[in-house]
Amino acid sequence: MKSYQVDKDGYYGEFGGAYIPEILHKCVEELTNTYLTVLNDESFKQEFDQLLRDYVGRPSPLYLARRLSEKYGCKIYLKREDLNHTGAHKINNTIGQILLARRMGKTRIIAETGAGQHGVATATVCALMNMECIVYMGKTDVERQHVNVEKMKMLGATVIPVTSGNMTLKDATNEAIRDWCCHPADTYYIIGSTVGPHPYPDMVARLQSVISEEIKKQLKEKEGRDCPDYLIACVGGGSNAAGTIYHYLDDERVRIVLAEAGGKGIETGQTAATIQLGKMGIIHGARTFVIQNEDGQIEEPYSISAGLDYPGIGPIHANLASQHRATVVAINDDEAIEAAYELTKLEGIIPALESAHALGALKKIKFKPEDVVVLTVSGRGDKDIETYLA
Ligand SMILES: Cc1ncc(COP(=O)(O)O)c(C=O)c1O
Repeated sequence: MKSYQVDKDGYYGEFGGAYIPEILHKCVEELTNTYLTVLNDESFKQEFDQLLRDYVGRPSPLYLARRLSEKYGCKIYLKREDLNHTGAHKINNTIGQILLARRMGKTRIIAETGAGQHGVATATVCALMNMECIVYMGKTDVERQHVNVEKMKMLGATVIPVTSGNMTLKDATNEAIRDWCCHPADTYYIIGSTVGPHPYPDMVARLQSVISEEIKKQLKEKEGRDCPDYLIACVGGGSNAAGTIYHYLDDERVRIVLAEAGGKGIETGQTAATIQLGKMGIIHGARTFVIQNEDGQIEEPYSISAGLDYPGIGPIHANLASQHRATVVAINDDEAIEAAYELTKLEGIIPALESAHALGALKKIKFKPEDVVVLTVSGRGDKDIETYLA
């Protein structure tokens, strides 16, 4: 049977793999040889599940949004990752990876961040586990997400502003990889999305897959069937989407809709619509779609949302799109803002700007009244209030 999961060599179709500098070979190999054993180990599972329950507050609710449903003429459930401790789905992954890092005997944690949510989630688990934490963040993002920067500092992390490129997520990731190359022995790099060399995309997808595991149970209770007609999520690197779809990947009854950031419009050059505009390339250790110019140079992406502002895309999603398993829509800045206001007014929920892109996708689909839709609200909008009010 055809599967959309990773293969034994770390590829999703022709996407993925591990394209890394020589100096990192040993650490990536060590990680590849360790992660599945640890993730499947009973004591790991117990500790992970207990922290997800008692610290993060899982399961996150599956909320039937009545007024939103009425507006779009179908039944819309929101998977409320915004209610997690630290305000987004990112914490699911950081808890899993820090438990792994401890089991691998690592003492120093590094991370990259765009919107700051992954940085906050990493700084949080480092405080919890009493580990040193260094977060790389583009200077542009430091400025537009300054509340998250203050939180990271309060949590004891060192935030290093990155001034190369257009000073956003791509540049922060470059610096984190550089740091890792200098300290391969004691440092564990907690990557915040389904990007990077194998095994990261698969590992992050597995750690986030608690989202779809819960959706299955919750839908069964509420609807008497465990599969929806549609799953909708936004994609930056792709981790909340991967978690949302993980247990439905090979169930073709479920339609998958991925919302990427159109920025000012995909034809304007100011966009982060990687799946639609990207060409095959290598970015941060993985073979995937990359927004690049004719010479293969990575183009600077643009989105109003710091968490979607990335010129690559997780290999899992690149494959789903190229196999036509997923429908990809680009949601522009103004459409996302409109969708955020709509959710706020109809349901009293202020979503993160990233999640607002998933909400923007509702307008692009023709639903039938009997359709059951699950849309992941990946985070809360507190960090974006200034942008919403601007
Ligand atoms: C709330 C929220 N949603 C979505 C994303 C996008 O990341 P991913 O595609 O890995 O879910 C981010 C990234 O920072 C985020 O903060």
